[in-house]
Amino acid sequence: MNRPRSNSAQETVDRVRQALGQSPAAQVKPSSGTATSERREFDFTTLPEYEILKIWKAVGDLTRIGNPFYRLHDGRAGNTTSIDGRTITNFSSYDYLGLNGHPEVAAAAKAAIDCFGTSVSASRLSAGERQVHRDLEAALARMSGTEDAIAFVSGHGTNVSVIGALLGPEDLIVADAVIHNSIVEGAKLSGAKRVLCPHNDLDAFERALRLNRARYRRALIVVEGLYGMDGDVPDLAGLIKLKRRYDAWLMVDEAHATGALGLTGRGVAEEQGIDPTEVEIWMGTLSKTLAAAGGYIAGSRALIELLKYTSPGFVYSVGLSPPVAAAATAAVEVMEREPWRATALRRNGRALLERARARGLNTGLSIGASVVPVIVGSSPQTVMLSQHLLERGFNVVPAVFPGVAENQARLRFFVTSEHTQGQIEAAIDAVAEELPKILSGASFVSTIAGR
Ligand SMILES: Cc1ncc(COP(=O)(O)O)c(C=O)c1O
Repeated sequence: MNRPRSNSAQETVDRVRQALGQSPAAQVKPSSGTATSERREFDFTTLPEYEILKIWKAVGDLTRIGNPFYRLHDGRAGNTTSIDGRTITNFSSYDYLGLNGHPEVAAAAKAAIDCFGTSVSASRLSAGERQVHRDLEAALARMSGTEDAIAFVSGHGTNVSVIGALLGPEDLIVADAVIHNSIVEGAKLSGAKRVLCPHNDLDAFERALRLNRARYRRALIVVEGLYGMDGDVPDLAGLIKLKRRYDAWLMVDEAHATGALGLTGRGVAEEQGIDPTEVEIWMGTLSKTLAAAGGYIAGSRALIELLKYTSPGFVYSVGLSPPVAAAATAAVEVMEREPWRATALRRNGRALLERARARGLNTGLSIGASVVPVIVGSSPQTVMLSQHLLERGFNVVPAVFPGVAENQARLRFFVTSEHTQGQIEAAIDAVAEELPKILSGASFVSTIAGR
């Protein structure tokens, strides 16, 4: 059945059409609801959301900018990748320590398949518990410096499920304004009062707690150990003071920090000399430095036990696939044994940051670790820049609205221990050469003209 579009969706469609010089779309009339004998399937192409998507794709075709998303890679993506049979220098994979495909990691995954198969075929609570899970959680707790850990099948799902389980409508969540979507979704699910504070502004965090804390049962402060869009870090000691003062829990998402921060890659606590047990809830993903997929929480024994019985994304979901769990365990072990990888990543991050600054590029707040943005501003120009770089042999995927604020679109360089000085210099030089052309509009005109 076709439903009338909501006003705001209809207005958005009309605005986009207007911008493209098209007349506003006719309002879709509600169906009469008359039953017919023939089977009718719902036509999703009539949804306003779908129409917006189609229009943006048409804009991409019209301007010959193309679509920088869902580029098909031919195989494993490291510091180089293959797209359409071309070898390209790659800055868009978060295999920060080069462990994806590492012989030890791959062998562990294969051995786990031989022993346990590709699935545990049940929630761990029922019939899905295997030794690979326990080995992984022991390794994660050791790496995190906590009593215990629990591994979930998705990093995004970890945040949603854990925040949703621990907090409710009578609670308060104070988070950084640029916090990852998974935390925002978890906070929405919890129904708690949500306050977003300007990025890394501890005074604003303090104000939010002072004004609200007394009216709520539990309070949670959430930050990222290394911000995935900006590449900077929070002031952990300052946040610990705040959480003590206002009787709040502190949760730190280490997705981009693990492997990238601290002398041995153990994350922001190691980087800033903080005792990890000062933080109630450490969260991380298995999908980045740990060369697998999934997420985890590390913390006190009681927290982990509680989540094992109450977190819906754990209790009502299958246990991690054995090869995935074994790969992540092996990745932790290699990381611990070979701290030179974390050193190499920091050297490369700093080199990329310094080169970009020297070429006059806007790298925002990045400290030069695993993530270095080059802020362009407008989303279409950022997309165009990414496409030009691909033509020149560099894969750097853009981050555009709504992933970042309007006017804050950027190329996001994920730096790894595997990149060479030559790759870093060549990529930044290519950005520095292409960006002025795009900003001056010369490239836009020639793209439209097909030249
Ligand atoms: C800060 C942060 N948290 C959580 C996630 C979700 O992790 P995953 O991709 O492993 O589901 C991401 C993903 O990029 C992230 O950047």
